[in-house]
Amino acid sequence: MPFRSFQLSLRFIVPLALVLSLFAYAIVPLVDNLTLRWFVKDLDIRSQLLVNALQDPLLEYVPQNSGKKIIQLFDRAVQDERLYALAFCDAGGKLRFKTVTYPESLGCWKPLPETGVRQSLVGLPQGSVHVTESALNRDSQYLGKLILVHDMSFIERRSADTKKYIISLFALLAVVISLITVFVAHLSWRGWISAVKGLLRGELAPRSSTVSTSEVQPLMGDLRTLLREFKVERRTQDNSPQAWTPEKLRSLLHDELAGDEVLVVSNREPYIHVRTPGGIEVRRPASGLVTAVEPVMRACSGTWIAHGAGSADRETVDGKDRVPVPPAHPAYTLRRVWLSKEEEQGYYYGFANEGLWPLCHIAHVRPVFRSSDWEQYVAVNQRFADAVVSEARTDDPVVLVQDYHFALVPRMVREALPKATIITFWHIPWPNPESFGICPWREEILEGLLGSTILGFHTPFHCKNFLETVDRYLETRIEYEASTISYGGDLTQVEPYPISIAWPSDVSEWPSVAECRSSIRQELGLPAAQLLALGVDRLDYTKGIIERLQAVERLLESQPSLIGKFTLVQIAAPSRSSLDEYQNFEARVRALAQRINKRFSSGIYVPILLKIEHHEADQVNRYYRATDVCLVTSLHDGMNLVAKEFIAARDDERGVLVLSQFTGAARELHEALIVNPYHIEQSADALHRALIMPEAEQHDRMRSMRSLVKDFNVYRWAGRMLLDAARLRRRERITAKIRSHSRKSLRRVV
Ligand code: G6P
Repeated sequence: MPFRSFQLSLRFIVPLALVLSLFAYAIVPLVDNLTLRWFVKDLDIRSQLLVNALQDPLLEYVPQNSGKKIIQLFDRAVQDERLYALAFCDAGGKLRFKTVTYPESLGCWKPLPETGVRQSLVGLPQGSVHVTESALNRDSQYLGKLILVHDMSFIERRSADTKKYIISLFALLAVVISLITVFVAHLSWRGWISAVKGLLRGELAPRSSTVSTSEVQPLMGDLRTLLREFKVERRTQDNSPQAWTPEKLRSLLHDELAGDEVLVVSNREPYIHVRTPGGIEVRRPASGLVTAVEPVMRACSGTWIAHGAGSADRETVDGKDRVPVPPAHPAYTLRRVWLSKEEEQGYYYGFANEGLWPLCHIAHVRPVFRSSDWEQYVAVNQRFADAVVSEARTDDPVVLVQDYHFALVPRMVREALPKATIITFWHIPWPNPESFGICPWREEILEGLLGSTILGFHTPFHCKNFLETVDRYLETRIEYEASTISYGGDLTQVEPYPISIAWPSDVSEWPSVAECRSSIRQELGLPAAQLLALGVDRLDYTKGIIERLQAVERLLESQPSLIGKFTLVQIAAPSRSSLDEYQNFEARVRALAQRINKRFSSGIYVPILLKIEHHEADQVNRYYRATDVCLVTSLHDGMNLVAKEFIAARDDERGVLVLSQFTGAARELHEALIVNPYHIEQSADALHRALIMPEAEQHDRMRSMRSLVKDFNVYRWAGRMLLDAARLRRRERITAKIRSHSRKSLRRVV
C-alpha cells in the first residue's frame, strides 16, 4: 500500500508541477510589467518631492552663481542610493552644474516651459534610467531646469527576485496541492469503502461521507436502491407469511440462485435401508432434522451427503455410493459416506453425543470430552468436507451443513471452495458462554462454524448466546446490531430461522379422526371413551419423559376420578442406545412407568402405555389424530417438531397441546398450554385443564396454531435461508463490482 501511494503520488505530482510551472512562466512577464509601472510611479513621486526640496536652495544659489554650494547640495542629495545623478542647465540650455555621475550623453535637452515637469525613461549604455526635468523659475523668470536621474537597476534586481519568488511559490504550491489531493484521495477511498461496507451492512452512508463525489454517486445510488429492495423484499418475506410451498421454493431457487446446486450435509440420512428376514426395507429415521430437511431437498433436488448407517445401505448404492431417493419417486441424490466402527464411536457417540449434545442442552447430564473422540470428530468432519468438494460440480455451490455433528465442516469446505455459500444450521440450543467454555476445543469449534456464510439457530436467544460465546473466546469483530461476525477475512451472518414441518398437502387419504380415535383405542385395548394423552419422542433425557410420567402420577393423585378413564401413550423411539447414559435413562423410564402403573392399576387398566420402539410417520399420525392431548415436556429443545406435527395432524381443529416453555416451539405456539416441566404440579394441572377443555376453546386455540404452522412451514424456513444466501451472493457480486469500479475511479482521479 505505501508503495502504491508513492506511485500514485508521483503520477499525480509530476503533471501538476509541469502545469503549474508553465503557468508561472506565463504569469511572470505580467507581474514584471505591473511592478515596473508601480516603481516608475513611485520614482515620479519621489522625484517631485526631491525637486520641491531642492528648489528653494537653488533659487538662492543660482542667481548668486555659487557653483560650489550647488555642487555640495547636489552631492548631499545623491547620497540616496537610488538617486544616481543631478544636473542644472541654465535658461540658454547650457549644462552648468552636475554631479560627477551625471551621464554626459543626456546633455541638457530642450528648455522647459514655465513650471513644466517632464519625466521619462531613458535607455543608456549602462542601463535604463528615470529622468525628471523640472523648470526653475523666479518671479516668472525662467532660470533653467533641474535634472534628476534615478538609477533603475534596483527595479531589475527586484523584478528578478520577484520572478524567483513566484516560481518557487508555484513549485511549492504544486507539491502541497498534490500531497493534499493524494491524501484526500486516500481518505476518500477509505471513507468510500467503509461507507460502502456500512451500506452493505444495511446502514445509510453518513452525510459527511467523502463518498459523495460525482465519481461514485451513481453507483451509491444504485447500491442504495438495490439494498432497499432487498430490505423490502426481506421484510415482506418475514412479516407477511405467504403460502410457502415446494413450488415457491423451487422457483426461488431458479430465480434467485439461478439454479445453483444445493448440497446438504448431515449425519443422519433421510432413508435407511435395513436388511430384514423379509428382504430389504426402507426406513425413515426419528429425527427432527430429517423431518425438516427432507421436503426441502425434494423441492430443490441436489445432493444429500450423510452417514450410510443402515445394514443394507451398501447394497443399495451405485459405484459412487449414490442412491436416488425417495425410493418410490426419486427427486434428489443421497450420497452415503461410510464410517468405521471406531470413527462412528469417536465422532458420533463420543464427541457429538456424549460431549456436544449434553453441553448444549444443559439438561443435567455431564458432557464427557475425550481427546480420542475429538480426533475422530476432526477426521470424520474432514471426510464429509471432502465428500462435499468431490460432489460439487461448480466452485460456488450452496452448501447446507446440518447440526452439531459437523461444526468443523464449514471452515474445511470454505478452505477448499472459497466461493461457496455455506449455510450452517444448528438444530439444537446454543448454551451461554460459561457453559460452552467447558469444551476443551471451544476455539476450534467456533472457528469451524465461522467458516459459514450464514449460521442459523432456531431462536434469537440462541443467536445471542452464540455471539456472546464468540465474543468471550475469539478475537473477532462483532456487529451486534447487524448480527455479523468478521473473523479472518470472512463474514458470518448469524440469524434465527425457526424450523418447521412440511404442511400436509393431501390429507384426503388419511383415515378420519373418528376412525383413528376408535381404531387406536381398540388396538390399545381401551374403552372407546378413554381420555388419551400422547407423548412422541426419541428416548432421550432431554425430552422430559420422566417429568411427564411424574405429572401423570400427580394428576391421578389429585384427580382420582380419572383413574381408569385416562391413559398416557408414550411412544419412544430408541436412540443412541449404545451409550450408558441412554441405557440408564431407558431403565429409569421403564422403572418409573412400572411403579406408577402398579400404583394406579386396576384389572387390565394401567395409566401408562410405554411403546419403546420405532414407529413410521403414518402410524404416529394416527396417534396424533386419536389423542385428546399431546404432551411435549422437553427440559431443553431447539424447536421440537412433534408439537408442530401434532397441530398439522388435527384438521378437525380439536385436541390440546401442552408445551414446555423450554422449547423453541413455545416462542411461536402461544395458544398451547405452556408449562415448566420441572414443576410437576403445574404440568399435572395443565394436563387436567387440557383434558377438560371445552371443545370451543380447543377449536379456537387449535385453529390459531394451525394457521401459524401452515404459513410458517419448513419451505419458509429453507426459503428464508436461501433468500438470504442469494442476497449475500448478490452482495458479493456487488462488492466485487464496487471494488473494480472504485479501482477504475481512483485511477481516473489520479
Ligand atoms: C436431534 C438432532 C439431529 C438428530 C436427531 C436424532 O434432532 O438435532 O441431528 O438427527 O436428534 O438423533 P440421532 O442421533 O438418532 O440422529
